Amino acid sequence: MMQIGIDKMGLFTPNTYLDLVMLANARGVDPDKFTIGIGQDQMAIAPLSQDSVTMGVNAALDLLDGENRDNISLLVLGTESGIDQSKAGALYIQRLLGLQNARAFEIKEACYGATAGLMTAYDYVTAHPDQKALVIGSDIARYGLETPGEVTQGAGAVAMLVSAQPRLMVLEPQTTVHSADVQDFWRPNYSKEAFARGKYSTEQYIDFFQKTWADYRNTTDRTIADFKALCFHLPYTKMGLKALRTILPEATEAQQADLLARYQESTLYSRQIGNIYTGSLYLGLMSLLEQSQQLQAGDRIGLFSYGSGAISEFFTAILQPNFETQLAAQKHADLLAKRQQLTMAEYETQFQTELPEDGSAFEIDLTVDPSPVVLTRMKEHERIYEVLTQAVKP
Ligand code: COA
Repeated sequence: MMQIGIDKMGLFTPNTYLDLVMLANARGVDPDKFTIGIGQDQMAIAPLSQDSVTMGVNAALDLLDGENRDNISLLVLGTESGIDQSKAGALYIQRLLGLQNARAFEIKEACYGATAGLMTAYDYVTAHPDQKALVIGSDIARYGLETPGEVTQGAGAVAMLVSAQPRLMVLEPQTTVHSADVQDFWRPNYSKEAFARGKYSTEQYIDFFQKTWADYRNTTDRTIADFKALCFHLPYTKMGLKALRTILPEATEAQQADLLARYQESTLYSRQIGNIYTGSLYLGLMSLLEQSQQLQAGDRIGLFSYGSGAISEFFTAILQPNFETQLAAQKHADLLAKRQQLTMAEYETQFQTELPEDGSAFEIDLTVDPSPVVLTRMKEHERIYEVLTQAVKP
């Protein structure tokens, strides 16, 4: 039987971050609230030279090589921090990656966007098994200075190559979905920051998880015992834990300990990067796969996607033989280790500095950004992107 799934994953996060103990001290909050109560240690801060397009390209470059870039004919960008109301960021991404003639478009549904792309890619490759799809989730999460959500910001992108006979993980066809019109988090066109009913959104997340999980158990004959790990959308790492805890009593004591240990492994990247909205579930999945020593081929992993507004989907994947060869733990450790820490003043200045909106010409300072692909300047309302590192040019 033809099997469809994720062949390889790529990661990008900007080169600058804020330490959250420092943020806690500056805001007069007990640091334990952030590191334990919220479960975050650092958050990535995007410089002006990184936006949802450049981060998406940089994440895709992390996985593309000379051979696997052939036959990519679907390119989906899931984002809620897009740069244009009309033109899809996917078209800039296609050009900057040196790809052509793909069904390239952008998709939006809060943090569910990349999952919508992944499911679309699954159906597309099922219908066209000789073709591949590139799915990217790329976002800058902004709640605003001195807001309750400030500690749950972040920036980054995840890219996934979807193909037939994937070498990393096969996606199983059974999924369950729950959706309803819920006003827990939104960002009107005129606002650069999101509005969130914070407590309400965490209640909705848990409620939606319980509904999709119960539906999954009722429509398949599987139970929690069929899972080696469960990954969650991670707006902050305590959030997934709260959801996981509601179903742990269904497992034996030994399995509860295993699932909790896998959960911790899935949160290591998010703890250092923060919320990357659409990519967050997949950042958790990468963290689990690259940081756990306990997984093997044949293991089933459950994935819970949640996008405020709201929609949730529970789906599953099976690890493939030699899946380790498709991972890049050392490269991603280096990406995180090489970042520069910002002072509070630098963070606040960076947060408040904006690109011109009046069409004037503006050169962006690139000295702080070593990323392969950057936004270099603005000119007559256009963003001018450049591939800076020759080595990654196709
Ligand atoms: N040591 C350890 N833990 C502490 C603590 C301390 N000194 N002080 C507080 N905490 C714990 C609280 O007990 C709480 O834990 P719990 O959720 O398990 O009960 C946690 O830290 C958060 O504290 P709380 O007072 O609830 O935080 P808050 O009112 O500042 O807001 C959010 C938290 C998540 C609501 C807020 O960050 C937010 O609005 N985020 C954006 C929206 C979002 O991410 N939604 C998720 C669904 S998409």
